[in-house]
Amino acid sequence: MGIWQCPVCAAPLQTTETGLNCVSGHQFDRAKEGYTNLLLANQKRRPDPGDNRDMLSARRDFLQAGHYQPLVDELLAQCAGGGDQGLLLDVGCGEGYYLDYLLHHLPQWRGAGIDISRQALRLAGKRNISNAQLCIASSKRIPVISGLFDSVITVFAPIDAAEIHRVLKEDGKFIRVTPGAEHLHELKAEIYQQVQHHEKAETPAGFSLYQQETVQFPMVFSDPQALENLLAMTPFVYKLDAKVRAALLARKSFTVQAEFCLAVYQKAPLNE
Ligand SMILES: C[S@@+](CC[C@H](N)C(=O)[O-])C[C@H]1O[C@@H](n2cnc3c(N)ncnc32)[C@H](O)[C@@H]1O
Ligand SMILES: [Zn+2]
Repeated sequence: MGIWQCPVCAAPLQTTETGLNCVSGHQFDRAKEGYTNLLLANQKRRPDPGDNRDMLSARRDFLQAGHYQPLVDELLAQCAGGGDQGLLLDVGCGEGYYLDYLLHHLPQWRGAGIDISRQALRLAGKRNISNAQLCIASSKRIPVISGLFDSVITVFAPIDAAEIHRVLKEDGKFIRVTPGAEHLHELKAEIYQQVQHHEKAETPAGFSLYQQETVQFPMVFSDPQALENLLAMTPFVYKLDAKVRAALLARKSFTVQAEFCLAVYQKAPLNE
């Protein structure tokens, strides 16, 4: 069964040799990297929305080196707890690290990833993730059929609670990763006189909190390339003074705290 919905008329999309189309004749071509663009021109505020290529490739290299391994392990444990088989959606999937890892370790699951950035989908497509389908789309209007997904994950990406609620099965899980209070504290201390701590994410409307945990671990960087990738993938680091940056990269070793809040939500009963 197909999962995608036509962004023009909301009819189910059928897979063809060249892409996706609906009964009304709306057609969407598959790019050579394997993703399809379901983001309509009138859904974009700028021509090339989302993260840019430099940020995405820095993030890919950083994640692929395993620096966030405890986080992806915890995500895997949460998804695997949902059963031997299932359908997973990664909203704001970026260059596809989490979707790739999860589906590789859950071979009976199928998955889909959406992101608003074309560059993100290009990189994700190059991963050739088996059992995954990828589309450019906005989290504000997810072009998938309602009530299909067993799990929806978002890692540091913007969400629209009503859309996630719509696409999840009644007993589906929404697994959301947001930065914990101390996330990248030592890096922020290099930039800001007073470090602001991240606030805990609130339970999204229509959901109830099922489980919440903090995933926390130190990252010791003795390789300047890893630290450089972290700087390039982290937006607040644009504020880093050039001299401070050079001094940081010249250090033999730099320890940075990683802290994530992993919240698992389920659909709230209608009267909540
Ligand atoms: C901080 S990155 C996280 C990417 C990925 N989840 C990860 O952790 O590697 C946020 C991602 O959300 C995407 N994004 C931003 N606004 C979006 C929207 N409205 N709909 C879908 N994706 C969006 C960006 O292009 C980017 O890839
Ligand atoms: Zn259509």
